[in-house]
Amino acid sequence: MVGCASRMLNQQTIQFGADVGPPDQLVAADCVDVQRSLADASVDLVYIDPPFGTGKTQSNQGRSYPDARNNPDAFVEWLAPCLIESHRLLRATGSLFVHLDYRSVHYIKVYLDTLFGRSRFINELIWCYSVGGKSKRRFARKHDTILWYGKSADYAFYPEHVHVPRKPSSHMRVVMDENGEPVQEKTDRKTGKVYRYPVNRGKIPEDWWTDIELLNRSDKERVAWPTQKPTRLLERIIKGTTQPGDLVADWFSGSGTTAVVAQREGRRFIATDVEPDAVSCARDRLAVQGQRLAAEGSPPPDLHCLANTDLSSGPRQES
Ligand SMILES: C[S@@+](CC[C@H](N)C(=O)[O-])C[C@H]1O[C@@H](n2cnc3c(N)ncnc32)[C@H](O)[C@@H]1O
Repeated sequence: MVGCASRMLNQQTIQFGADVGPPDQLVAADCVDVQRSLADASVDLVYIDPPFGTGKTQSNQGRSYPDARNNPDAFVEWLAPCLIESHRLLRATGSLFVHLDYRSVHYIKVYLDTLFGRSRFINELIWCYSVGGKSKRRFARKHDTILWYGKSADYAFYPEHVHVPRKPSSHMRVVMDENGEPVQEKTDRKTGKVYRYPVNRGKIPEDWWTDIELLNRSDKERVAWPTQKPTRLLERIIKGTTQPGDLVADWFSGSGTTAVVAQREGRRFIATDVEPDAVSCARDRLAVQGQRLAAEGSPPPDLHCLANTDLSSGPRQES
């Protein structure tokens, strides 16, 4: 487990030795204050994992953030400015991913259908896991929902970068092709048409993901920030919708998972969190990884960390 240092409140640039333009950015501020300072159509991917509106304080190893809005209408009202700004900031080929759970996802879906247009909705991704407590009074609530919207019909998607293995137990027969490679094969009974799928090429994942587990307490990826998401989840989203050099934004960055994957995969990033402790946690993860990448001969862009006191007027209040 990577530890997290104490609060980081001053400006700081961490240099990794790459000479590739402006640094990546990690900002301790209310996300909307930062969003409003950025230019239209400048971002390729926005992923957000806001507080879910649990009505509880989320905590882990002495670190915590409040998650008080357990009223769905108040939740939509609170998140709306961030969604409006996200829409403005996306390029025509850009995408928005909003990670929520059963509490408010339906309300936010209705809001996003209006903001983006229903035709811009792409996927409702169901991320399934099994770690954690279960009630005896219902089926276990063990999935989150991630809504995917494109800024336009021309949204970027690179499925070949996120293929998953084909199921060996498929109903299709496996035969060898002319190169001696295994292919799954089926014949359409009505038309007689033969469909062949090379096994080694894998397939586009379905919209339900069961192959990425929630981080458990002792996972080596785990840092001291509550509700941390696995890097594999972000890897699928980032590699599936961006190319190296594209700009990725996470306005509710927490421990910096999105930024960590973006840095590792050669994407540029801007990440914000209103809690300075979260920003210090993300900074530590990015510094450790950036130094490792530099030592391996692929230094990432420098990292600019900033407590944006000029932009931020403090956390927004629930209205
Ligand atoms: C669910 S956590 C994000 C976890 C993150 N995806 C990770 O993997 O660590 C939500 C985060 O949103 C932050 N947050 C809440 N309100 C915010 C706001 N107005 N602006 C920016 N960040 C905010 C919280 O401090 C918290 O770290």
